[in-house]
Amino acid sequence: MSKNMSHRSNFKDPSKVTKPFLRALSGECLSPPPLWLMRQAGRYLPEYLETRAQSKNFLDFCYSPDLALEATLQPLRRYNFDAAILFSDILVVPDALGQKVEFVSGQGPKLHPIKNESALETTLHVDNFHAHLEPVYETVRRIAQKIPKTTALIGFAGAPWTVATYMVEGQGSKDYAQVRSLAYENPVFFQKLIDMLVDVTASYLIEQVNNGAEALQIFDSWAGVLSENQFTRWAIEPMARIVERIKAVHPNVPVIGFPRGAGVLYKRYVQETGIDGVSLDQGMPLTWARDNIQPHVTVQGNLDNLLLACGGEEMEREARKIIEVLGEGPFIFNLGHGIVPQTPPENVTRLCQIVRKET
Ligand code: CP3
Repeated sequence: MSKNMSHRSNFKDPSKVTKPFLRALSGECLSPPPLWLMRQAGRYLPEYLETRAQSKNFLDFCYSPDLALEATLQPLRRYNFDAAILFSDILVVPDALGQKVEFVSGQGPKLHPIKNESALETTLHVDNFHAHLEPVYETVRRIAQKIPKTTALIGFAGAPWTVATYMVEGQGSKDYAQVRSLAYENPVFFQKLIDMLVDVTASYLIEQVNNGAEALQIFDSWAGVLSENQFTRWAIEPMARIVERIKAVHPNVPVIGFPRGAGVLYKRYVQETGIDGVSLDQGMPLTWARDNIQPHVTVQGNLDNLLLACGGEEMEREARKIIEVLGEGPFIFNLGHGIVPQTPPENVTRLCQIVRKET
């Protein structure tokens, strides 16, 4: 099928783009579609648990190029995905700014919360940012050398809003009530925090590309809790600025956004941020995405991660339906959110067979 004419393509010479994942991001429609899964490395794989056991602290694990390289390659060996994603975490950014992050087993991340300008000024510093993240860049260089020729390397970061939720609340939350209230009550402080995150996130992602990343994904996992006005100010505007900065240096590197839970606001997000692809969560109706989102950018998604964990015929039906509806346009198969630890690895094997039409 020919390229959708209204689709945004930033590649200067599309004939040079040969990896299926990158071809799909440049607007090509491929059958079978390229395939990778969010959180494809991680605790559902026994070999990950074994590697993970070599480091007590999760961030130390992320900052060990040998271990992070190994974790990145594990799912490729099993499933031969079309893309590798750098093994790291979105919270290395606050950690590199001086807001120490700890992962408490079974409880998720813990940070000393920053709730006002004076805490921001005393805690956060950009001076050591890239030096702190050098092990991540080293990991990117090693992955780029080790992956198969047809596999693309995705670099990533959290979006400013999602990273700020952890920096302000000090941990995960169900509704992010504290940080949303604070953004209303003290927008001067909050804007300052977001501006700082725009700067460092853009330069972090550019550095990942300088070291070998071929595409970038920016995770706004908590975008769905924002009101329309807040979504404009804290999700769309920062993302548009980050994309502009990246494109100024690397115009040919595709950027994927993931405004999880944004519903109909996905449409403004893809029109106003300059992204090349968007990751759809499992709540997104397929025909609405086909008609409203796919004409603008490549779509990626959106099998329910819990349905992958459950497996069986319903998973198979649902996967086929996603391909049937979105497969007629530029499309990458993925989940609506990351793989959960209870997922049996054999369900992923089965999903790969279905997507690749081997069954
Ligand atoms: O394979 C991959 O996708 C690459 C690795 C990756 C991780 N985190 C590894 C990880 C990626 C892309 C992330 C992104 C991330 N981290 C997001 C955005 C995507 C999303 O899922 O919404 C967010 C919000 C985080 C923050 C985070 N990291 C939390 C809340 C937690 C604790 C909860 C949990 O899932 O355990 C983490 C820890 C984390 N990040 C683990 C892994 C493999 C588990 C820690 C461990 O193995 O000990």
